[in-house]
Amino acid sequence: MTITEREQQASTTVPDGSVDKPAPGTGHEGQTFLVGDEVYLRAIEPSDATYAPSWKNTVFPKSTEYYEKWIKEDMVKEERTATYLIIRKRDDVPVGSIKANYWDPSVFLEPYVDPIYADSGQRWLAEALTLMLPWLVDEQHRPIAVVAVNSSQTAAIAALETAGARQTARFRDKVRIHGGRADELVFEYLNSLWVKTLGDPNDQPIERSGTGDPRPVPLKVELDGDPPKNAVMVGSRVYLRPFEKKDADEVALWSRRETEPFWSNGRAMRSAVGFASWTEGLEKDDPPEWIRFAVCLRENDELIGAVGIDGVDFVNGCGESESEIHRPEYRGGGYGSEAKHLLFDYAFNRLKLHSLQSFVIFPNTRSAAALRKQGYTEVGRLNWDYTSDGRFANLVCFELLAADWRALPRASRPNANETSAS
Ligand SMILES: CC(C)(COP(=O)(O)OP(=O)(O)OC[C@H]1O[C@@H](n2cnc3c(N)ncnc32)[C@H](O)[C@@H]1OP(=O)(O)O)[C@@H](O)C(=O)NCCC(=O)NCCS
Repeated sequence: MTITEREQQASTTVPDGSVDKPAPGTGHEGQTFLVGDEVYLRAIEPSDATYAPSWKNTVFPKSTEYYEKWIKEDMVKEERTATYLIIRKRDDVPVGSIKANYWDPSVFLEPYVDPIYADSGQRWLAEALTLMLPWLVDEQHRPIAVVAVNSSQTAAIAALETAGARQTARFRDKVRIHGGRADELVFEYLNSLWVKTLGDPNDQPIERSGTGDPRPVPLKVELDGDPPKNAVMVGSRVYLRPFEKKDADEVALWSRRETEPFWSNGRAMRSAVGFASWTEGLEKDDPPEWIRFAVCLRENDELIGAVGIDGVDFVNGCGESESEIHRPEYRGGGYGSEAKHLLFDYAFNRLKLHSLQSFVIFPNTRSAAALRKQGYTEVGRLNWDYTSDGRFANLVCFELLAADWRALPRASRPNANETSAS
């Protein structure tokens, strides 16, 4: 549908000569908040399905019937998310949306405007963000809202800055935009009353351990014989394979034997049946949203951990990497980093992803040190993202672009003399 067709559809004349107005109750008349000069915001109704290409942030086309059903049956069951439509005041046409993901203590906003509206759309989005933030944070007494926009959205960036939001992270080239790529910029809008009580989260320094230097990428292993059973990627000490049902008991057992509470928000207690069912659920997604591998030792096939990519986004070519060595005695010995380089080879060479992101809670300095060692760059922070130690706590943000990983030095092959001497 072209822009003109969509505008016509917004005010088509029905047989009795009247203008085909939006469903009763969906106009802005009488609305007391979230109403600006050019746009207003409201919740989604089934009649909005007609305009789904304008407010649904997807590049894949789906019918009006699909979205009508989605609104009535799926959207209403969604927990901890709400989508607010950005509606043009002059004709009540939806032109975009802001999806709010409520994660205590923060709310994470995903703004979207139909690219068909070009610069006007960006102006409407900027106004919508200016309306949304004070309502969601100041009026509703939330401590913080976090908004991700891309570097081409200059009007939205200017509006965020004017509203008092500040940029806390920047992910290079993370998102595709029409005809190219742009950086993703993360802004936070803090509630000044919470800042008064708790202080500015940016004042909390990021503690560091390790050398901070990237190390050479391990050599690609040339196999002498068959690979380990079911292996997908093979390194010198570890290999990656799919998780199997039988692994669930081991994962549950090692969660009960965990000795370190600092690397997550306390220790997790896993059940074998829960882990098996979760893994089975992940396998059913096609294409997968979360790709996970078991990390096993080559010397005895023992399962020692997991690595994966969560939120795999094949459109933008990105995802969040994760790693966990289940057994404490294997941490700090380079096994996790070796497994990660196998994951990078898989992500960048097999899946052809463009970048990986990673988020680490401040006290987990070992994980952050391992990421720096693996070649990741620190790109900012996400403040007040979870609760810990009687306060709202922060995350460090990292990124690794395929190009960064390819540019890292490669380990050199030991020469014949060194090999025979050792
Ligand atoms: C994070 C993890 C996968 C890293 O793998 P790893 O094999 O342990 O990492 P490496 O041994 O290659 O590197 C560890 C780095 O941390 C440093 N380090 C080691 N032990 C440490 C400790 N107890 N505290 C702080 N830093 C430590 C090391 O010096 C090294 O950095 P350097 O080589 O620059 O000096 C692994 O430690 C782990 O599973 N931890 C628990 C789960 C976890 O934290 N997952 C990540 C959640 S974001």
